[in-house]
Amino acid sequence: MSSTTVSDTDPFRLLTDWLAEAKRTEIADANAMTLATCGADGQPDARIVLLKSHDEQGLVFYTNYESRKGQELAENPRACLNFHWKTLQRQVRVLGRVEKVDPVEADGYFASRPRISKLGAWASDQSRPLAERSVLEARLAEAEARFPDNNVSRPPHWSGFRVVPLRFEFWREMPYRLHDRLILSRASETGAWETSRLFP
Ligand SMILES: Cc1cc2nc3c(=O)[nH]c(=O)nc-3n(C[C@H](O)[C@H](O)[C@H](O)COP(=O)(O)O)c2cc1C
Repeated sequence: MSSTTVSDTDPFRLLTDWLAEAKRTEIADANAMTLATCGADGQPDARIVLLKSHDEQGLVFYTNYESRKGQELAENPRACLNFHWKTLQRQVRVLGRVEKVDPVEADGYFASRPRISKLGAWASDQSRPLAERSVLEARLAEAEARFPDNNVSRPPHWSGFRVVPLRFEFWREMPYRLHDRLILSRASETGAWETSRLFP
């Protein structure tokens, strides 16, 4: 059994490998991850977002800074991310500080999005009450009129967050619920990664 446990000392490389496998096996959204946040009121909240890039600097997703998650992260810039790939029977947990993505980086990603997605970023007051669907459609039509071609600028409230990890857990299903749990953690963002294991 021990021969099938995970061993790696670089969490970013291991995440890259597992994501690549998940992209081959999952039917959709292998990059979907649960983002858990907790604002000043102490009430945890969670929702799915898509991982758009990752490297040694951290894991990046994009959203509306004025959304509920955006407000919670403004109040408490710490988050937990969780990937679950059913086809692989694997889970990855990532804990860390959250920072805003550089505007130039966000512009680059925004420019790569389909035109309607760009217009949607202007049209949606994400997480705020919507009286009826027609209001959203009218706002989308306004954005379409304002930006008649694909040259849609990035709304100032729409950008990315980067989770800068201090701890990863790579969980892998093993027979009889004797799962493998590999922890890669570091004491500070410039520290070396240390490896440990947890009982399942
Ligand atoms: C598969 C999937 C992917 C999603 N990706 C994103 C995303 O990348 N960014 C985002 O803001 N919301 C994304 N959402 C919507 C969020 O789950 C959520 O409904 C929205 O961001 C509002 O969350 P909030 O009110 O907690 O801020 C996604 C939902 C699903 C189911």
